[in-house]
Amino acid sequence: MAEESQKWVLMVTAQTPTNIAVIKYWGKRDETLILPVNDSISVTLDPEHLCTTTTVSVSPAFDQDRMWLNGKEISLSGGRFQSCLREIRSRATDVHDKEKGIKITKKDWEKLNVHIASYNNFPTAAGLASSAAGFACLVFALAKLMNANEDHSQLSAIARRGSGSACRSLYGGFVKWIMGKDEKGTDSLAVQLADEKHWDELVIVIAVVSSQQKETSSTTGMRDTVETSLLLQHRAKEVVPKRILKMEEAIKNRDFASFAQLACTDSNQFHAVCLDTCPPIFYMNDTSHRIISLVEKWNCAAGTPQVAYTFDAGPNAVLIARNRETAALLVQKLLFCFPPKSDADLNR
Ligand code: DP6
Repeated sequence: MAEESQKWVLMVTAQTPTNIAVIKYWGKRDETLILPVNDSISVTLDPEHLCTTTTVSVSPAFDQDRMWLNGKEISLSGGRFQSCLREIRSRATDVHDKEKGIKITKKDWEKLNVHIASYNNFPTAAGLASSAAGFACLVFALAKLMNANEDHSQLSAIARRGSGSACRSLYGGFVKWIMGKDEKGTDSLAVQLADEKHWDELVIVIAVVSSQQKETSSTTGMRDTVETSLLLQHRAKEVVPKRILKMEEAIKNRDFASFAQLACTDSNQFHAVCLDTCPPIFYMNDTSHRIISLVEKWNCAAGTPQVAYTFDAGPNAVLIARNRETAALLVQKLLFCFPPKSDADLNR
């Protein structure tokens, strides 16, 4: 390693988009390893829109691992951060930066500390802040910095330890998180089903229904569901395995009618499972329900689905339009049904 007195810093920056599940992950069979009760499928958003940018740096001058999120220091002491850091450190290899004259050996990484600065390009308060992009970006950036030569799927299994849905953000396009069978979780990882070019007519519109933080976090919510919902067991065993196969087929064939039907039904079942939890969890509100009705009526009147909807652990609607024209019509319809207050700033 370069002289301790030399206060060099080595840095890597990465950018990772968030992903939206069209077949939902809800429920863990192992809380520590973050192993799900079913496979899930997501679509990764365009990194220009909702993404996290993370810079990781290493220097002998750093006396502990530290992290800042949107400029504010946050604690790294939680088990999830520690798992990601430990897993990547154990895969670190020699790094040689000839320009800066820095040599770090595999052994050095055990003693060196990192600083992490992460930013979301969307307002955290909008309730869209997802841990998915955050952990995926953190793991990817650390792997680059520490020269951990793992492929995306291996990295996805590490990101999974930060937040389940994060494992799906390592790839663009359509991604499947395979639940795996191994009790240590070695085979619970993400694979790409199709890249971002495969079905690029689709347009995703996010309708922010409420900018408040969700009341029940996904982690607590799914724990309660696993403990109390019989419907979840039926969903995980009987429903999702068949639905996953159909969704893979719909994506492969760019079959929007089937894609929309599966995505909407799966979102509705996820929220039904939340209602079946004791005490029940309500993520959607009246406005969310009105958006569902609007889309359902439109799809029915058109004779074939024009837009798919899906809702995560909150009231905001993620609407997937079959093409740009439909997306423009959708925005028109939303503005008509939910007119902005006269003083609302539409540029925000
Ligand atoms: C409703 O990945 O946030 O968005 O693994 O406990 O961190 P943890 O949960 P998280 O759950 C996301 C749940 C979901 C559905 C999905 O993204 O598949």
